[in-house]
Amino acid sequence: MTTTPLQPETASRSSDDQRASGDDLGRICILGAAGSLGSEFMDLLRHTKTAGRPNTAATPTMLVGANHADCDITDAQAVDRFVAKHRPDWVILTAAWTNVDGAEVASDQAFAVNEQGSANVASACRRLGARLVAFSTDFVFDGIDHQAPTPGQMRTRPYVEQDEPHPLSVYARSKLAGDQAILAASPNAIILRVGNLYGLGGHNFPARLADLLTRRARDLRLDNERIMTPTWSAQVARQAIFLMEQNALGGLYHVTCQGQATWAEFAHRLCDLLDLPHDFAEIASADLNLPARRPAYHVLNNARLANLGWDLMPPWRDALDTYVSLWRAGHEIDATTSSMNNAEDSPTINDTNTARPKTHDQSNHRRNT
Ligand SMILES: NC(=O)c1ccc[n+]([C@@H]2O[C@H](COP(=O)([O-])OP(=O)(O)OC[C@H]3O[C@@H](n4cnc5c(N)ncnc54)[C@H](OP(=O)(O)O)[C@@H]3O)[C@@H](O)[C@H]2O)c1
Repeated sequence: MTTTPLQPETASRSSDDQRASGDDLGRICILGAAGSLGSEFMDLLRHTKTAGRPNTAATPTMLVGANHADCDITDAQAVDRFVAKHRPDWVILTAAWTNVDGAEVASDQAFAVNEQGSANVASACRRLGARLVAFSTDFVFDGIDHQAPTPGQMRTRPYVEQDEPHPLSVYARSKLAGDQAILAASPNAIILRVGNLYGLGGHNFPARLADLLTRRARDLRLDNERIMTPTWSAQVARQAIFLMEQNALGGLYHVTCQGQATWAEFAHRLCDLLDLPHDFAEIASADLNLPARRPAYHVLNNARLANLGWDLMPPWRDALDTYVSLWRAGHEIDATTSSMNNAEDSPTINDTNTARPKTHDQSNHRRNT
């Protein structure tokens, strides 16, 4: 567990109307702090790694980063104890079962973490007066245009918050159940629906891809069909903190970078930026033979943020350009030494040398490594 006193401690936790005024975010606990998005929050709120990255002036009076061993969110009593001990004004919940394909064969565990675990955290927040910030997924949609005259036609319009989810996989159903459980237990919770994250820490599609291309991995195949929006997780963390600073109303907010791409397009852009050979095959989604079904189209419209004038998310190409330039300047991870863990979506890199799909026995709640 990482506890960082960032300002002199206040004698007691702030009340609803005192909290989150100006740059003072009060006391913050992050559950899932060692994960990909959790570590972005830790960096941002500690004001480390600032050069050229998305940044914030917001400062908590106390920042507690808990990993899985510190607090298992499936254990309701442990969650209650944790929240009661630290008396946070805000709980940022990034802990989740994120192994999309593994969830197909471990449905109970995926629901235990993503539905029941989320409910445990939301209930504790409600009881103990903390506001919750949690994360949903663009995979709750099925990519079908349900208004089109031809059944099964692919959607081409980005999803807004009011669009009805139609989850295709166990993972997506467990996350949607978690969203619903959170809002039932803690109606003022803020849920950011995100997707296709890359960044520091575990999930690092750019670093992994660059590594495979540098090593000229055999049979590297990338999806050139599925349409989504690659999103730098540091931008998501900054957007979330902005909402906390505004003491934004609860409910769902779509939060991805702007624009759309396939993973193959993303890879071409990365190859251009890193002067790497475009040495991969482009294939259809179905040819990846992934255990979990994914939507063919899962682009989000940050409509609620835009209506409020609060949309800080850049075009995905600009975000990737910045990310890669920081990386090249040594401010970000090094492709050859960075983690090879996979993002929620990573099996789209299908490299027979290094990225074999997991068997049932190997799968767990973490990613599809
Ligand atoms: N990455 C994406 O592309 C993406 C896309 C859409 C939505 N999201 C959502 O964004 C959020 C953050 O994802 P991420 O990419 O940061 O995931 P991540 O890197 O896999 O991190 C998840 C963290 O949760 C922890 N965890 C798992 N089970 C736990 C439990 N029972 N109790 C406490 N901690 C537990 C894991 O710890 P251990 O590994 O130590 O067990 C890990 O540190 C999640 O809600 C995810 O569903 C992510």
